Order: sequence, then structure tokens, then C-alpha cells
Amino acid sequence: MARNQFGSKIGLVAATLGSAVGLGNVWRFPAEAQANGGAAFLMLYFVCVLLLGAPVMLAEMSLGRGGRSDAVGVFRKLSPGTSWWIVGVVAVLAPFLITGYYMVVEGWTLEYLFRSISGELYNSGSFDVSMQQYLFTYLNPWMFTMIVLLANMVVMLKGVQKGIERLSNVMMPLLFVVLVAMCCMTLSLDGAADGLKWFLAPDFSKITISTVIDALGQTFFSLSLGMGILVTYSSYYPASTKLTPTAVIVALMSLVVALLMGFIIFPAVTTFGLADHALYGPTLVFQTLPEVFNCLPGTQIWSALFFLLLFVAALTSTISLLEVQIAFLCDRFGMKRRNAVLLITALLALLSTLCSFSPAGLGFELFGMSLFDFLDFLATNILLPLVAIAICVYMGWFAPKGLLKKQLTNDGTLKSRLSGAVLFIVRYVAPVLIALIFIFSLI
Ligand code: PHE
Repeated sequence: MARNQFGSKIGLVAATLGSAVGLGNVWRFPAEAQANGGAAFLMLYFVCVLLLGAPVMLAEMSLGRGGRSDAVGVFRKLSPGTSWWIVGVVAVLAPFLITGYYMVVEGWTLEYLFRSISGELYNSGSFDVSMQQYLFTYLNPWMFTMIVLLANMVVMLKGVQKGIERLSNVMMPLLFVVLVAMCCMTLSLDGAADGLKWFLAPDFSKITISTVIDALGQTFFSLSLGMGILVTYSSYYPASTKLTPTAVIVALMSLVVALLMGFIIFPAVTTFGLADHALYGPTLVFQTLPEVFNCLPGTQIWSALFFLLLFVAALTSTISLLEVQIAFLCDRFGMKRRNAVLLITALLALLSTLCSFSPAGLGFELFGMSLFDFLDFLATNILLPLVAIAICVYMGWFAPKGLLKKQLTNDGTLKSRLSGAVLFIVRYVAPVLIALIFIFSLI
């Protein structure tokens, strides 16, 4: 059977961007930028993305399209008889662990979307209670986790072109329309100017080594690097796809989404005097922002739009995580797509059920963390950097000679003034910087 391929340029960019744009753009980046020097952080992040994020993205894309297989298969094909495939195994394991808890959060967003539409979220004033109470008194998070898992399953069953690509083609434009609509609303609020100033006032004194490390870590997480995602997706890119512009467009658009999220959050919280509330993580999204919406005319509409946005961002990320696992089962074990999807769904139903009950301390603890936090820590702080370093070292030193250049130039048919620079970064700069993030995040 011919290997899957994305059907159009727009489709493959939408799918890749869909993976990059996720909760990180909403609840991580804006607060991080504000706390770390506003526009100064933004410039730093921009430099990190272009000088480090994009080259590592290109290394992963070249590996995927060069090997045209799943994250393990690419190493088997390109370097048979070596142990590099083990990197691929870790790159499949990490998405599995991440999906386990990401699905839970995706379930929350869907539940909030429904409760915004029904108005129940605001009638009971329930956003005012602590997160734990909230989850267990008012919500039925587990049920919604299972609903989103099934929704993901349906998309995955339809395959790469009819499932992932079609969904991304609809969802990504929708995401931008909702984002822009919400920005127009928040930028017309009384406190908009103050909010923007607060978000972006450049403060270079805040840039320290640890902010640089933060910016690097954010770059990797945000571009979905080190998780086999780009390797898998780009194994479906047609031979004519120009990798360099694709990587740059995805990286920049993801940054634009994160910025627009800041334009929504900061003007809104300053206008309603909620600036001392949590502006980071789940509390921002499930507590502070509902309070903001409660102060706005048209509460339910804005609230529903926001949670729709969040749900779309999460969904296009989980399908990319799932595809890594499904491609692995199909390509490695010759499983039918349908069976692979069902197997992964069943395993994830188990894992996310455990995760869904763990934030409230119901689950067991691992190294003093709930299962939920532990999986996040293990996957994003440990497995992700390890895979990213290994892929850079492989592409820089051990891959078949000229693979990166061949992929960047589409077998010599494109001019690529940048391929030398990309190779240099992948060989010398990226492994060292990623190792630094790794070490810093552990101490
Ligand atoms: N890149 C996504 C974000 O910014 C997060 C993500 C990580 C998505 C890993 C898929 C896989 O939120």
C-alpha cells in the first residue's frame, strides 16, 4: 500500500501548525513573557526560535522525509544495524505519556465550552472555588476526557488526509478567526493600553541566564520538538515540499498566536482589576478568565468562543501526538490503521483515567508528584530534551552523508544558502544548548 501523504501545501502547514499551537501558547507563553521582561523576552524568544528552534525543526523534518517511516523506522531505514532506533522508541513513548494527561485537559476545555453555552458556569458562580473543589463538585471531568478521546479516535480512524488534514484545514482558520475576534474585543476595553504596556514594556534587566534557559525550553515545547511529531508528519510531506519556508512559517505563526493570546489576556485582566490573579497555567484558563468573562457584556458568548479556541488548539495537538503512536504501530508491526487506532485508544483510556483522577490527590504519587504532574515532568523535561539532542547528534554526525542538505534543497533542485548554517547549528550549537536546558531544568 502506498504510504500516506498530505494532499496539499496548506493542509500540511495547517496540520504542523496545529501541533505547535496548543496550551503552551495560551497558558505558558504570555505569562512567561510578561514576567520576564515583556518585549525584551519576546525578542529573545524570537532569536531562539529562528536560530535554534527552526534549525532543529528542519533536522527533524529532514529525518522524517528522508526516512519516510515512523519515528523508529526512520533510523532503521537510514542506519540499519545501529542502535539509533532506540531514540525512536523514546520518541514514541513521550507522546504516549503526554497524550495521557493532555487528553484530560482537553476534556476540561470541552466541558467548559458546554457549560459556557448552557450558562451554568456563570449561574452558579462556580469559577470562584478552588480548582480541586471545582473539578470534583461541579464537573465530571472523566466523562469529558473519554468524550474527547473518542473524538480523537474518530479523526484518527479517518486517516492522514481525510482525518488529520481535513480537520486542520477547518480548525486552524477557525482558530485565527476566533483569536482575532477576541483580540478586537479586548483591545477596545478601557484598560487595553495599560494591559499592553504591562504585557510588553521591555525590561532588559530581567534577562538573565535563567530567562534564556526558559526561552529555550519554551521554544522546544512550543514547536513540538523532540517528540517524533515532526518526524512523523514530515514523512507524509510530498517530495516537492520546501522544508525551510515550511518550518519558518510554522514557527512564526505559532509565535503570532502566543502574542495574540497576550493581547487578549492582559488588557482584559487589567480592565477588570484582576491583575493580581493567577495568569499562568490551568488557573488562568479555568478560573481567572471565567471571572473576566463574567464582567463582560455577552459573558456566555465570549466564554464559549474562548473555550472553543482552546479546545481547537488542544485537539490539533493531540491528533499529532496520536499520529506518532499510530504510525509506529502500523509501520513497525504492520498493523491495520483501524486496529492501531483502537489499541492506542484503549491504552490511553486507561492512562488518562488515572490522570483524570490524579490532580485531586486521588491517584498514587510518584516522586512526590501526582501522576499528572509526573508524566508532564518526565515527558517534557526529560524525554523531550534527550530525544532532541539525539536527533541533532544523529542528523549532524551519523546520518547518511548529505541527508540534511539533500532534504533542504529537495535533492539539489532548490538553492539553499542556509543549509550550511543549519548544519552548523545542528552539529555544534543545538546539542550544547539543549543539554544546558536539560541540566538547568533538573536543578
Ligand atoms: N506545542 C504545543 C504547545 O505549545 C504542546 C505540545 C507538545 C503539543 C507536545 C503536542 C505535543 O502547547
